[in-house]
Amino acid sequence: MQQLDELSDDELIALYEVPDRSVPHLRANFVTSLDGAVEIDGLSKALTSDSDSRVFSMIRRLADVVLVGAGTIREEGYNPLKLSGAARSWRLGAGLAENPTLAIVSSRLELSPVNPVFKSAVRPILVTHAASPPDRREALAEVAEVLVVGDAEVDLQAAVDEFSARGMTQVLSEGGPHLLGSLTAADLVDELSLTLAPLLAGPGAGRITAGVPSTITRQLQLKSTLAASDDYLFFRYVREA
Ligand SMILES: NC(=O)c1ccc[n+]([C@@H]2O[C@H](COP(=O)([O-])OP(=O)(O)OC[C@H]3O[C@@H](n4cnc5c(N)ncnc54)[C@H](OP(=O)(O)O)[C@@H]3O)[C@@H](O)[C@H]2O)c1
Repeated sequence: MQQLDELSDDELIALYEVPDRSVPHLRANFVTSLDGAVEIDGLSKALTSDSDSRVFSMIRRLADVVLVGAGTIREEGYNPLKLSGAARSWRLGAGLAENPTLAIVSSRLELSPVNPVFKSAVRPILVTHAASPPDRREALAEVAEVLVVGDAEVDLQAAVDEFSARGMTQVLSEGGPHLLGSLTAADLVDELSLTLAPLLAGPGAGRITAGVPSTITRQLQLKSTLAASDDYLFFRYVREA
C-alpha cells in the first residue's frame, strides 16, 4: 500500500487524475468513521484530519464544478469556494479555470442570499427545478445563476449534461448523504473517493448515503489505496469502463 506522506503534491494529484478530461466524470468525496458514521454532532469536521484535508484539497484542484446539497451548506457552515494561491497557480498551469464553480442543489431553496457561500470566487450555480418557490428563486438569482432542470424534481443528469456543455466535465460532489443517494439513484457516480477515519463514532449518525431506497447496485473498481501516518486510509473506487 502506498504511503501518503511519501508522495509529493504532484504525485498525489496524479493518483486522482482521470485519463481524459474531455470525458464527463463525477467523483463523490466522503469521509466516514470505521463504524460508518458520516458526521459527529452534525458535522464532518470531527472525522477529518490533516491528512484528509490534504487529500481533500488536492482532489479539489482537479474539479471544474464542486457540487453540494443545500443541506451541507446549511449544516456545515460551508465556506465560500476560493482556492489558495498555490492551488490557483497549479490550476492555471494545468490549463484549468483559476477556481472551480460551486453548484448547489436545492428543491426548497431555504438559503439566504447573504450566506457567505455566495461570495465564492466564481458566481455559484443554484441547481433547482421548475416547481421550487419562485420568490426564493428570484431572491437567490441576485447572487447565483439559477439553473432550472426538471419540472417537479431536480434532474441531476440534465444538470451534469449542462455543466459538460459548458466545458465543465469534471464534477466533484462534496455534498452529503441525500445528494449521494440521488446521484446513485440516477446512476451518475463515476467514482467514490472515500476516507476511512480511524475512530468509532458510536450509534446515531447516518451512513454516507440517504434518501428514497433504490434497487440500484453499481460495482466499482479499486484504483488506489493510500495510508497516512495518522492511520487514515484513502480509497479511490471508479466505475468499470
Ligand atoms: N462525512 C462527509 O464526508 C460529509 C460530506 C458532506 C456532508 N456531510 C454531513 O452530511 C450532513 C448533511 O446531510 P444532507 O444529506 O442533508 O446533505 P446534502 O445531501 O448535501 O443536502 C441535502 C439537501 O440538498 C438538497 N438536495 C440534495 N439532493 C437533492 C435532489 N436530488 N434534488 C433536490 N434537492 C436535493 C436538498 O435541499 P433542500 O432541502 O434545500 O431542498 C436536501 O435537503 C451534515 O451533517 C454534514 O456534516 C458529511
